[in-house]
Amino acid sequence: MQRLLICCILIHFFVSPTLCIRSNALSQMTYVNVMDQGAHGDGKIDDSNAILSAWQRVCGMAGPSTLVIPSGKIFFVKRLELNGPCKAQSVGIQFAGKIVPPTMDTWVGDRGSWIVISDVNNLTIDAKGGIIDGNGSSWWEKCRSCRRPTSLRFHNCNGLVVNSLSMTNSPGAHISVNGCNGAKFSGVSITAPEHSPNTDGFDIAVSKYITIKDSTIATGDDCIAINGGCSNINATRLFCGPGHGISIGSLGKNGSHEIVEEIYVNNCSFIGTTNGARIKTWPGGSGYARKITFDQIILKNAQNPIIIDQNYGVKQPSASEQAVMVSEVTYRGFVGTSARDLAIVLKCSTLGCFNITFDNVHIVSSQPGKPAYASYNNTHGTVINTVPKISLLK
Ligand SMILES: *[C@@H]1O[C@H](CO)[C@@H](O)[C@H](O)[C@H]1NC(C)=O
Ligand SMILES: *[C@@H]1O[C@H](CO)[C@@H](O)[C@H](O)[C@H]1NC(C)=O
Ligand SMILES: *[C@@H]1O[C@H](CO)[C@@H](O)[C@H](O)[C@H]1NC(C)=O
Ligand SMILES: *[C@@H]1O[C@H](CO)[C@@H](O)[C@H](O)[C@H]1NC(C)=O
Ligand SMILES: *[C@@H]1O[C@H](CO)[C@@H](O)[C@H](O)[C@H]1NC(C)=O
Ligand SMILES: *[C@@H]1O[C@H](CO)[C@@H](O)[C@H](O)[C@H]1NC(C)=O
Ligand SMILES: *[C@@H]1O[C@H](CO)[C@@H](O)[C@H](O)[C@H]1NC(C)=O
Repeated sequence: MQRLLICCILIHFFVSPTLCIRSNALSQMTYVNVMDQGAHGDGKIDDSNAILSAWQRVCGMAGPSTLVIPSGKIFFVKRLELNGPCKAQSVGIQFAGKIVPPTMDTWVGDRGSWIVISDVNNLTIDAKGGIIDGNGSSWWEKCRSCRRPTSLRFHNCNGLVVNSLSMTNSPGAHISVNGCNGAKFSGVSITAPEHSPNTDGFDIAVSKYITIKDSTIATGDDCIAINGGCSNINATRLFCGPGHGISIGSLGKNGSHEIVEEIYVNNCSFIGTTNGARIKTWPGGSGYARKITFDQIILKNAQNPIIIDQNYGVKQPSASEQAVMVSEVTYRGFVGTSARDLAIVLKCSTLGCFNITFDNVHIVSSQPGKPAYASYNNTHGTVINTVPKISLLK
């Protein structure tokens, strides 16, 4: 303690006061507050550079350190790129304030993303009380089919932990996870209106060992989209809806080769979604989507509770002899209601889907007394105790 105090005093005089803030001998954690790096937190003056310089301090430290974005303030951020790798084995961000972007009319530069975190390993973001508000409504109106930024992008981050993050009204997708190995998201809350275009909750690509749990995702597009190059993705105890459900794909667009495997979705509910458990592939692609389980799913008025669509993106059934192979998909323990008569749709390519299992699936129409149906083509597998009635090829 004594030594640390002296060290702190020395640093205080010769380096910078911020290095000492709330340091203590037990954890030796150094906290760098963006307010001490020139941030205004008034929601008007651009704080991007202040946050960036605080980050560079944190990232350059040899010992454990944490960037602090404090509560009770609004940080106007034009565009932010927090890059690693950092010097220490791990770094933290404590985020309790509110972050807001420029408007669409004043946006400068790249429209692909707003806040990007790249090449940072073992980053823990504790976001209790913090919110990233994308203020997307003008984008949705004026730029419906043009490029709109993803609010928060993690690129090439291994060992990421994100707790209690709230996000709302992103212009485009809310969170993108790309090229990451090992990420745990929990207690995330994402909300945007049902009509907001392409406002995916999570967009995951080329990543493995990712878990998302105990979270609520209500947007205008997929709660989670799992794209090519993903494996070992777990989604547990999520409330999804409104939105388009949890989607694998689309895969194999324009003849591409894509692989997705070991996906485990359990104890999730789909409430008022346009899809529940969805797998979609384009005709003409190659690769596979396999070892995918949807377990203990609650449905309420979902439009396509269970759907495999291997004819995605084309109007006529395709005569293509090639397809991303769909196999080893299990639907277990579904209960609830379908907004459409067709509760289960399995549009497999002429090559077929294999080892598809239905085990204790009970889906009825959300209109009492109306029957629900299943429609299926070229689907091989096993059915145990399932309503609506479905009989698959051996
Ligand atoms: C991340 O942390 C683990 C221990 O939790 C450590 O083994 C690993 O080296 C760290 N990664 C980096 C790049 O420092
Ligand atoms: C949100 O965007 C609108 C329209 O572009 C703008 O008038 C408003 O000031 C923005 N709100 C915030 C908090 O930045
Ligand atoms: C996902 O869940 C399955 C089943 O509980 C488990 O075996 C697997 O280790 C989990 N994977 C991850 C990345 O958490
Ligand atoms: C589709 O693939 C072809 C040939 O591989 C390529 O020339 C073309 O640019 C691709 N189109 C798109 C939209 O990616
Ligand atoms: C999932 O729900 C079942 C009851 O439907 C419960 O027994 C189980 O513990 C839950 N699992 C998780 C990981 O929440
Ligand atoms: C389907 O399951 C059987 C038995 O487990 C296995 O032999 C076969 O390779 C599997 N086929 C596919 C395409 O997964
Ligand atoms: C798919 O199956 C449905 C019945 O489930 C049938 O009406 C339809 O003609 C089939 N479509 C193709 C392309 O085989």
